[in-house]
Amino acid sequence: MSATTTRVLPVDDDAIVEASRLILEGEPVAVPTETVYGLAADATNAEAVARIYAAKGRPGFNPLIVHVPDLAAAERLGAFNETARALAERHWPGPLTLVVPKASPVLPSIVTAGLDSVAIRVPVHPAMQALLRATNRPLAAPSANASGTISPTRAEHVLKSMDGRIPLVLDAGPAGIGLESTIVAATGEELRLLRPGPIDLGLPMTASATIEAPGMLARHYAPSKPLRLDATDARGGEFLIGFGPVEGDATLSSAGNLIEAAARLFDLLHQADASNAAAIAVAPIPTEGLGLAIRDRLRRAAHKEN
Ligand code: TXA
Ligand code: MG
Repeated sequence: MSATTTRVLPVDDDAIVEASRLILEGEPVAVPTETVYGLAADATNAEAVARIYAAKGRPGFNPLIVHVPDLAAAERLGAFNETARALAERHWPGPLTLVVPKASPVLPSIVTAGLDSVAIRVPVHPAMQALLRATNRPLAAPSANASGTISPTRAEHVLKSMDGRIPLVLDAGPAGIGLESTIVAATGEELRLLRPGPIDLGLPMTASATIEAPGMLARHYAPSKPLRLDATDARGGEFLIGFGPVEGDATLSSAGNLIEAAARLFDLLHQADASNAAAIAVAPIPTEGLGLAIRDRLRRAAHKEN
């Protein structure tokens, strides 16, 4: 991909106009959402979507999430059964992605990597909502980081791997939730959990031989250093990320609060990765509620290879 100058603009009306202009010209733009920063492009423009894959170095078999402003727009792209519609009505706008049968000829197959289903999300973040309305297009947006690396919860994280590869980053400060959306497939009779996340529907994690989500790859969200889990102290040369009673070099939440921990997880992984430490260790995280989604990301970040 040719080198580009990447600008960072704080979100305001002018920045949304500029981002919208770039997107309608077929460029990908990094945008804050409530979960993590996304790399958004016009989902109806195959070339624009191809630029997302190129900027991320993303394998072509990994389909993208399509973001829309509301359920009515979602129902123009996918077929919602009663269960899917009930979930959408309850949790949208918010950090839930629903995979439903694809029902729209306007989405080029590159968006869904050729699948006959489509992943759709209605984000709550005002910047993403403003961009959806300004462009009047469904926006395909994966996390705005190089494929397989730590997800971005700040504009600076986006620049770490996207500087010179995309024209614009909209900056609205740290993402509020900090973990990617829960992904649920509503393509058959039963709901299937494809990626645990901020919304806990009490579904068991789907054991599937085929990779339906790259977040399902054994190694994903990975720092460049070895990562050790359930650590109660730092061994030689480790940057210890604490939680609750385990203090560490920095803490996810000294109060043991899982919401705070989720919001800080990727930020601290970025910090630990950028530090002088040779390795990273993370304190035990409870195996309940949001802790399950945090542990899912940590397990994949610690995994040696796919
Ligand atoms: O919170 C989020 O979901 C963020 C923000 C930017 O919205 N986005 C995000 O996108 O995490 P990404 O690309 O990093 O993860 C999207 C996941 C992938 O694991 C992908 O495989 C899965 O969604 N996915 C997309 N379409 C699918 C489909 N039709 N069937 C199954 N999985 C799908
Ligand atoms: Mg991602």
